[in-house]
Amino acid sequence: MARMSDLDQALNQAIEQYRRSHPASERLHQQALGVLPGGNTRSVLFFDPFPPYMVRGEGCHLWDADGHRYLDALGEYTAGLYGHSDPAIRAAVSEALHSGLSLSSHTEREGLLARELQRRFPSMELLRFTNSGTEANLMALATATAVTERRKVLVFKGAYHGGVLAFGQGGSPVNVPYEWVVARYNDLEDVRAQVAAHGKDLAAILVEPMLGSGGCIPGEPHFLQGLRALADEKGALLILDEVMTSRLSFGGRQSQLGIRPDLTTLGKYFGGGLSFGAFGGRADLMARYDPRRPQAWQHAGTFNNNVLTMAAGLAGLKHLLTAERLDALNRRGDALRTKLNKMLEAQGVPLQLTGLGSLMQLHPLAGPLRSADDLVAADDRVKALMFFELLGRSVYMARRGFIALSLPFGDAECMRLEHAMGEAVNARRGLWPPAAPAPALQRPAGA
Ligand SMILES: Cc1ncc(COP(=O)(O)O)c(C=O)c1O
Repeated sequence: MARMSDLDQALNQAIEQYRRSHPASERLHQQALGVLPGGNTRSVLFFDPFPPYMVRGEGCHLWDADGHRYLDALGEYTAGLYGHSDPAIRAAVSEALHSGLSLSSHTEREGLLARELQRRFPSMELLRFTNSGTEANLMALATATAVTERRKVLVFKGAYHGGVLAFGQGGSPVNVPYEWVVARYNDLEDVRAQVAAHGKDLAAILVEPMLGSGGCIPGEPHFLQGLRALADEKGALLILDEVMTSRLSFGGRQSQLGIRPDLTTLGKYFGGGLSFGAFGGRADLMARYDPRRPQAWQHAGTFNNNVLTMAAGLAGLKHLLTAERLDALNRRGDALRTKLNKMLEAQGVPLQLTGLGSLMQLHPLAGPLRSADDLVAADDRVKALMFFELLGRSVYMARRGFIALSLPFGDAECMRLEHAMGEAVNARRGLWPPAAPAPALQRPAGA
């Protein structure tokens, strides 16, 4: 068994090696420090001592300012599903550029893109576009509170619904000021207790079908179906945040589980790699935004229908993202996760990957992981060491251990990732501490 100081030493060594091999990135980081807090404008991207500064992407590869080429296993936190600059998307953006930006009115593309989304998500009987997933969730919540005339919203510890809707630690000082009721994920008994206490004031239950940023913890089917029933019982809306999970099948996680939410929120890759969000659902709710109606609710947004996003999003759905390709990608992800877990287990390394389909997360923990509370014992240094070891082998994943495959990430790339992780395991043999066990599970009845 390795002493902890050995692990610290190995990590320091790996970080020093990273620093030495990234002088241009360090220089760019120094330049940014005076104007951006920590040189950073997107918290999730930062890690110590500084992140690599990327200059180019192609297919499922990235190049940084120091001339390194990486296998991109991060896929822009799921927004990069199409890879970097697919020719079909490039052609559509280029055509849109030629016909002019900022056209000051409706264009045909927004209706076409909305129809492509509705074809995939029939529960979105009517929908509207926003510029991000955060904004989509803000609009869904605003709709729920306005419709129900209630102020409380039930969310889950570990959930992430956007920069001002973050519940990783149960909440955040910069969250928007709704009256949050925070329950335990995958624990229907806890939700029932919270609903019993707050039900008559509850505007909505907002839930990710899988905790994405919170560690790729899948929501158990009976739990998510139970939320549908509880929302109905109390007259609250069920909002499914499918910003990440929409890519798990042609009709998202909701079609796999047979759940029809009142409202759904989308984002990420649906904009073809450009800024995107959408919220939509029951026609009777969304019709409140119909501007032909007297006292229609306003939902403005200069860039809601910006031509580049509409064009790129439409090209992606029309030409690239068939049900078959999406299913193949998710099967590839399932196979990769299974193989990596087998390898880690066989080598006695205290790491496991959780997730669904093409989305996965590395955890330095043993045992089943079902909620945010199960992750508290994780030793972040183990994840950090694996991250720097993979980076040194030209594989780029999120510093927190998140992996999202893209369409160009094929079997050969999966083998490369597996090989790099195998090498990393061997290079630090004897240094991996024993896995911290997840806390004892308390399964709700019927789980
Ligand atoms: C489940 C989920 N909801 C919402 C968001 C916010 O989307 P955006 O970053 O586009 O604001 C994210 C982003 O990671 C997400 O994972």
